[in-house]
Amino acid sequence: MEYKSLIQDVLQNQTLIRLVLGNKRKKSLEYSKIVVRPFTSKDGLMYQAEYFYEKKVLHENLKASEVYYALIDLIENSFKQVNIFTVDADYQILAAKPEKAKIIKAEPTMKPTELEHNITKKYIIPDGKPCDFLIRLGVMNDRGQVLKKHYGKFRQINRFLEIARDVLDYLPKDRTVKIIDFGCGKAYLTFALYYYLKKECGYNVDIIGLDLKEDVIRFCNKVAQDLSYDELRFEVGDIAEYHDTTTDMVVTLHACDTATDYALINAKKWKASVILSVPCCQHELFSQMDNELHSPMLEQGILRERFCAILTDTFRVLKLKEWGYEVSMIEFTSLEHTAKNIMIRAVNSGKADSKAAAEAQALADFWKVSPTIMQK
Ligand SMILES: C[S@@+](CC[C@H](N)C(=O)[O-])C[C@H]1O[C@@H](n2cnc3c(N)ncnc32)[C@H](O)[C@@H]1O
Repeated sequence: MEYKSLIQDVLQNQTLIRLVLGNKRKKSLEYSKIVVRPFTSKDGLMYQAEYFYEKKVLHENLKASEVYYALIDLIENSFKQVNIFTVDADYQILAAKPEKAKIIKAEPTMKPTELEHNITKKYIIPDGKPCDFLIRLGVMNDRGQVLKKHYGKFRQINRFLEIARDVLDYLPKDRTVKIIDFGCGKAYLTFALYYYLKKECGYNVDIIGLDLKEDVIRFCNKVAQDLSYDELRFEVGDIAEYHDTTTDMVVTLHACDTATDYALINAKKWKASVILSVPCCQHELFSQMDNELHSPMLEQGILRERFCAILTDTFRVLKLKEWGYEVSMIEFTSLEHTAKNIMIRAVNSGKADSKAAAEAQALADFWKVSPTIMQK
């Protein structure tokens, strides 16, 4: 990632705790370092910059809209090194030559104070407040503090819940909401969904997690039992062969290759109102794709793989539209899982899009491929 994008991300996501500019470019510069931290004033979010002179410290307040450009200017003209402390990670930017800046990422070492906590990103499940399933799964300690090594997972869980919060309007409020998590794995996100919908929002839910792995399912059922999560159960099974009739929401996160297609096909069959799907390992079309004009791209393994993922997901989007879903592709997690960070968010509008069907067919013909999602 480029250092400017990193700074932009940190400011935009409001995860900054401290930013320290050091290693000055010119000896003549009167201050040796600048420490920047966010604070709230009556005008909203602001940033305080502390300039460290030899014998004094001076302060300047910057508006949120000014701080990015001020920082870039300081890096380009005054300082060669930046240390950024965020709730998710620490970063060191070595920018002797800004155009060739190097970024080193490490586990976060700074925790926001209570006051800073209110400024930095507000998570649906906050760090510092005991949450039963996170404690049981080892993400938090008994005092509710998130363990450093699990901060990425903690952030992913919260991001997932933010996305779930945004689709609540599409779920029924007057009856039990039925949800299936296909390829649930160790089910951090399934437990999170239960916790949020049932315990935080007061929904009646019936949630099933499905996975091929018997040992994982045994573990998840034991955890659900220990937590008295009575309307959450886990079953061993294959997504492609799973039969049910009523499901309001289908979740499938990182279910590999065509498992995602079978999950989407099931969701369509059951007329699920909401689908949240993060595809991964899109291999199916890799060896099928064939197009002379694009052969320079297809000859490069990495490009072929990346393009294969994009093409596969495009078919999924088009078919969902054809089946009457409004679809958006959104970023799920930004840094840790870069290759697997796109979520297909689909809500059932009931309006089938026949143009999408024709577009999918034309695309399949052009690339000479037969994606699973188009066989059903
Ligand atoms: C990478 S893990 C993801 C776990 C979890 N959804 C998450 O995002 O943290 C993928 C899981 O999907 C399961 N899986 C893959 N294909 C499946 C299938 N056809 N039916 C059921 N589960 C499947 C795997 O066993 C594995 O546990």
